[in-house]
Amino acid sequence: MLKNNILQLLKNNKNKYISGQDLCDTFNVSRTAIWKCIKELKSDGYIIESQHKTGYMLISEPDILSYIEIYPYLKTKFIGRNYIHFESITSTNDYAKEIAFKCDNGTVIVSEEQTSGRGRLGRSWVSNKGEGIWMSIILKPDLNPQEAVKLTQVAAVAVVDSIKDATGLSSGIKWPNDIIVDRKKVCGILTEMNAELDKVYYVVVGIGLNANVTTFPKDLNDKATSLLISAGKKIDRKQLTASILNNFEKYYGVYLSKGFSYIRTMCIKYSLTLNSDVRIISNNHEYIGHAIDIDDDGNLIVELKNGDRKTIMSGDVSVRGILGYV
Ligand code: BTN
Repeated sequence: MLKNNILQLLKNNKNKYISGQDLCDTFNVSRTAIWKCIKELKSDGYIIESQHKTGYMLISEPDILSYIEIYPYLKTKFIGRNYIHFESITSTNDYAKEIAFKCDNGTVIVSEEQTSGRGRLGRSWVSNKGEGIWMSIILKPDLNPQEAVKLTQVAAVAVVDSIKDATGLSSGIKWPNDIIVDRKKVCGILTEMNAELDKVYYVVVGIGLNANVTTFPKDLNDKATSLLISAGKKIDRKQLTASILNNFEKYYGVYLSKGFSYIRTMCIKYSLTLNSDVRIISNNHEYIGHAIDIDDDGNLIVELKNGDRKTIMSGDVSVRGILGYV
């Protein structure tokens, strides 16, 4: 696409002028076509100096997560190589589910803003413009549904590593899908799938990461944080997005080729749930106990007050000391 080609050329020559004629010759288009693209790039937030007779010079890029902005950091083979970027959308998971049947394994949908971002258990997910990483990865693994649910944990491990790489912050996993920094939630993962009993057609792994969120709604203040708040500085969303995709591809590959054992080890290492008192609401039952293990299927093993062991496959888990549970 002409606009991206012009942008790439300007990026390759940052802070240098490129003449309008050179651009016309390189892409074999008219001056008007070049001018139209420059105008569009400026309205996307690129600062481009235009000087009569001298040409165009790129001064700075906006903080957006388009493919052209993140691909210099992307090291993946297939995750994110088909990449769809929106300024605004209802929910990247909803869009991913709409297109999943027709698109490639590893397709990634990213939006600067979600107007109806969704969390687990029908909750909403605040996704303000440019403040976070709101994205969904479409996967078509040869797994059964029980195995595919563990992709939440694959993603969780990838996010913890990426947060460390990008910010130096240590985060942990509140089983199975919350990433916690400073005892508050910084990221949530929503995995959805289309499957039959023994066959998965596709899986959508939705990741919502509060990167540069500055303020939360009042009711979330003691439960949610952002990397900006915890690290005390603005986060480079481009590098972090690419890093999550890089780490996700790595751990996804390990999971598909070697099974869950290594991912389980990492989940245990990063777990903030194990060795803590927990309260779990699962299938309309409340269980209170002590979390003692994550088993080979990714389930949480809880020792109840009466000494019985309960295997928790899914549910709403409160962990003493985290997210305001005292
Ligand atoms: C949770 O913690 O409850 C899961 C939150 C998941 C939010 C992400 S943001 C990108 C994707 N699109 C959505 O609508 N939800 C997920």
